[in-house]
Formats: sequence, C-alpha cells, structure tokens
Amino acid sequence: MSQNLARAKALLELKFYLHSTIFGFLLLGLAMAYLQWLGIPGTLNKSVADVATLLITLSMALSGLGYFFNFADRKVIYRKYLGMVGFAFALWHLLLSWSALLNLFKVETWSAGRMWPILTGFIALVVFAVMALISNQFSIRLLGSKLWRAILRFGYIGLLLVVGHVFLLKSARWLTWWQEGMQSPPALSLIVAVVAVLTLVLRLLLWWSLSRRRGR
Ligand code: HEM
Repeated sequence: MSQNLARAKALLELKFYLHSTIFGFLLLGLAMAYLQWLGIPGTLNKSVADVATLLITLSMALSGLGYFFNFADRKVIYRKYLGMVGFAFALWHLLLSWSALLNLFKVETWSAGRMWPILTGFIALVVFAVMALISNQFSIRLLGSKLWRAILRFGYIGLLLVVGHVFLLKSARWLTWWQEGMQSPPALSLIVAVVAVLTLVLRLLLWWSLSRRRGR
C-alpha cells in the first residue's frame, strides 16, 4: 500500500515537472519570437535569461496571488516546480554567459568597479541553488519547517539581486528607448524587470496584510 502511495506521489511530481517544463519552453518560444521581431541580437541567451526570471518570479508570486485571488489557489502547488525549472533555465543562461562570468575573476574588472552587473547575478544564482538544494522532504525534516521556511525567504533577496543585475546591464538602453520617444515596443528585459518588481511589492503587501491580521 505504502509502495503504491510512493509511486502515485512520484508520478504526480513528474506530471508537475512536465507541465512546468512545457510552460517554460512555450515562454521561451514566445520570448525568442518577440526579441526577433524587435530585431535584437543574441536572442537565445536573452530569452533563456528572461524565461528563467519569469519562472522564478511566478513561483514566488504564487503564494501572494493565492492569498489575494481565489483563481490562483489551485496553482499554488506549482511553486516548487516552476522554481526548479526556472533554476534550470538560469543554469542554462550561466553556460551561455560563461565568458562574462570569467571576467568576474579578473583583477581589472574589480579595480575598474565593473564587477557589480555580474556579481549580482552570480550571488542570485547561489541563493537559488541553495533553494533548489533544500526543496525536498529530507531537508524539511533535517532543518525543521521553521528554519526551512526562513531560508526559502532569501529567495526574495535573490529576486531583488536579479532586478539589480538586469537594471545594471540594461537600464542605459531603457533610458535611450524612453528618451527617443518609445518608438518601438519595450525590451523584454524591461517587462521582466517590472514583473519582478511587482512580485516583490506583492510580497510586501502579503507580509503587511498577515502582520495586520496577527495584530488584531
Ligand atoms: C553568474 C551568473 C550570471 C551571469 C554570468 C549572467 C550574465 C548575464 C549577461 C552577460 C547578460 C547580458 C546578455 C545580453 O545582453 O545578451 C545577462 C542578462 C540577463 N540576465 Fe544574467 N547572468 C547571471 C545570472 C542571472 C540570473 C540568476 C538571472 C535570473 C534568474 C539572470 C537574468 C538575466 C536577465 C533577465 C537578463 C536580461 C536579458 C535581456 O536582455 O532580455 N541572470 N546576464
């Protein structure tokens, strides 16, 4: 009986991973089509990075969305799977940005103060790696649910670092686009950064609402 239960659980997990992976690749197709339509070079790495950010952002937004809106309740189960697939996309982005990462280990980069755009992405990736590593029942038992939840909250710092990473790399282009009268649709990096900021705001609203309830 318990073997059957374990099998059913494993199959369910597989289904959630499959759904999240298919969703990730659908987003990737849309992102690549959008960037190509805008005529932006380096489509693959940019799209992979944007999808990684969107999946991780959605994974973090689901608790807030589930709290404020009933329609999202049934999707809250996808938090872990969207986060894990998003992390896999972030690793893919890292492989495609290998030369940029290597620059981080050069003295010239640090002496010129040019380490921040990549350092923020690197630390965010380390935060997400820790989250991925402890996203299992064994870690919950080992750490206890209180500490486990506290560690997972660092994900919001990871997301804030991603916003910093994208802002430092892309804000000059966003400014030019704005100063030239927004002749084309916005860059995907700008859309993704706005979605990530809104998710962080949603989280603050959730904290505020929960602490008000507790205070009553
Ligand atoms: C060591 C880790 C990382 C390195 C070396 C890195 C490197 C880069 C580089 C070089 C770019 C510019 C790409 C281009 O303009 O073609 C970029 C953009 C970007 N990165 Fe990262 N990154 C890292 C981590 C991350 C993480 C963890 C995320 C989010 C999960 C992320 C999200 C983004 C996004 C959204 C963009 C903008 C894509 C666009 O222009 O549409 N990066 N990154």
